[in-house]
Amino acid sequence: MTARRFLFLLSSARQGGNTQAMARAAAASLPPSVAQDWRDLTTAALPPFEDLRHGASYGPLPPAMAALADRTLKASDIVFVAPLYWYGLPAPAKLYLDHWSHWMRLPDLGFKARMAGKRAWLIMAHAGSTEAEIAPARDGLRCATAYLGMVWGGALLADANAPGDWQKDTQAQSAAPQFFAA
Ligand SMILES: Cc1cc2nc3c(=O)[nH]c(=O)nc-3n(C[C@H](O)[C@H](O)[C@H](O)COP(=O)(O)O)c2cc1C
Repeated sequence: MTARRFLFLLSSARQGGNTQAMARAAAASLPPSVAQDWRDLTTAALPPFEDLRHGASYGPLPPAMAALADRTLKASDIVFVAPLYWYGLPAPAKLYLDHWSHWMRLPDLGFKARMAGKRAWLIMAHAGSTEAEIAPARDGLRCATAYLGMVWGGALLADANAPGDWQKDTQAQSAAPQFFAA
């Protein structure tokens, strides 16, 4: 079996918030044999995505994006560490997904075929939203990753607003250490 490697993609607009803390708590129970790669999508902002599907063809990736695509392809598991923003994913996480549309069209990368079978996870804090209000963000990500043949690992949710609040959500507290074992 190939070694597992988790890519954690942070997308909160603040440091030290609930999603990041919850992701660290979940990651702490991964065995040492599992590699962890942490990338904050907000600190080195991604370039705008250009839709060139039906006109000029896509050129090679600039170095920073080639590195991100490479880290994505090296991962067995991709974890979106994303607070709920306006009932959707934060813009950096959504922009990262949009860039997949470019990566999929680079024949040398073999992106779509190589993404198939990887596992996708979501770690999300929200502030008092209902299941119906969370569903569009969670299910949209699940559909996007399924489009590439990825397997859905699950969503770890916490009802939390100010940083540290996730620790008051007892359900999230007990779910975090077991999340990746499920
Ligand atoms: C721009 C913005 C939009 C938000 N939209 C929602 C929302 O639609 N639903 C919700 O329950 N919480 C919403 N929140 C609250 C955050 O999801 C909540 O504070 C969460 O704990 C932030 O995660 P973090 O600590 O990892 O940054 C929003 C917060 C911000 C800053």
